[in-house]
Amino acid sequence: MTQLITHIIGTGSYLPEKCLSNHDLSQIVETSDSWIKARTGIETRHIAAEGEVTSDLATEAARRALDAAGLTADDIDLILVATTTPDKTFPATAAYVQAKLGVTKGAAFDIQAVCSGFVFGLATADSLLKQGLFKTALVIGAETFSRILDWTDRATCVLFGDGSGAVVLQACDGDKSAKEARGILAHHIRTDGEKADLLYVDGGVSSTQTIGHVHMNGPKVFKYAVMNISSAVMEVLRQADLTIEDIDWFVPHQANQRILDGVAKKLGINESKVVSTVSRHANTSAASIPLALDTAIRDGRIKSGQLILIEAMGGGFTWGASLFRI
Ligand code: ACO
Repeated sequence: MTQLITHIIGTGSYLPEKCLSNHDLSQIVETSDSWIKARTGIETRHIAAEGEVTSDLATEAARRALDAAGLTADDIDLILVATTTPDKTFPATAAYVQAKLGVTKGAAFDIQAVCSGFVFGLATADSLLKQGLFKTALVIGAETFSRILDWTDRATCVLFGDGSGAVVLQACDGDKSAKEARGILAHHIRTDGEKADLLYVDGGVSSTQTIGHVHMNGPKVFKYAVMNISSAVMEVLRQADLTIEDIDWFVPHQANQRILDGVAKKLGINESKVVSTVSRHANTSAASIPLALDTAIRDGRIKSGQLILIEAMGGGFTWGASLFRI
């Protein structure tokens, strides 16, 4: 049966120029390259320059994604920016991105689901495109996470970095049930507000009128991440009537290598199918999946027609997964 299916037709990503190594961090807090590498797999992270804001990072990734898709700003009528670190309280960072790109039609708004923001954004854009409300969308994950870190707290400041990634989406006629059907095949998103205190920022407009800093119960986040992500993955596979063996590439949220390994092991995914870029840019929250996806497309690992599984978990808790054939 023919229906509208959302295709990913271009990807782009951007990392700020300044790079901070584990050794650099050991000059700021009591930590070491060996501790960080062993517990997280992280080696370096990028930090936005003074005056460089989230919409700058988002705009750069979006430009690269548009180039890859062979489109221009005139083709875009929907922009979703997944971010926890907006330029301002309002307007939405997506509004700034719209203006910086020179997009003059449609709608632009932000998605706030922390590290799961890109998965939530993709699901939202997919629904809007499939309803025919918009034709061509940019979904961007962009963060200047370094600005909400407590640089004296070694338990959190070593884990995160700044960056952005973007995809261009377009709805086309197709048959989702056909074998080898391309486009977004399934998604599943969830929130459990009861776990809000396990990963949060201790500030905000309405409560403290300050920005606040990241606080996290690392071991509990680790435990729930592996459990929740695995169940979301099983749900999208069920929806698409596919099995884990059908997956060509697993592109997880790049939180830390041990979570990636734990999820891959629980799901029975061979490590050769896992795209991992966390060593290079640490946890960039909503930006990490499109960053990793773009990296693996540009270096030739991910090829047209392959089946891709993405997943994430973050503050809220929020979590989810998507399945698409590129
Ligand atoms: N350098 C050196 N020592 C450190 C550091 C550091 N940067 N940070 C903590 N330690 C110490 C602690 O103080 C503690 O010392 P103690 O035993 O003397 O008290 C010791 O290391 C062990 O601390 P734990 O917190 O138990 O370490 P753990 O093995 O749990 O590893 C980590 C910590 C890496 C944060 C782990 O819990 C984890 O990966 N959690 C998942 C969290 C995560 O990735 N969050 C990202 C956001 S959510 C998401 O994206 C899914």
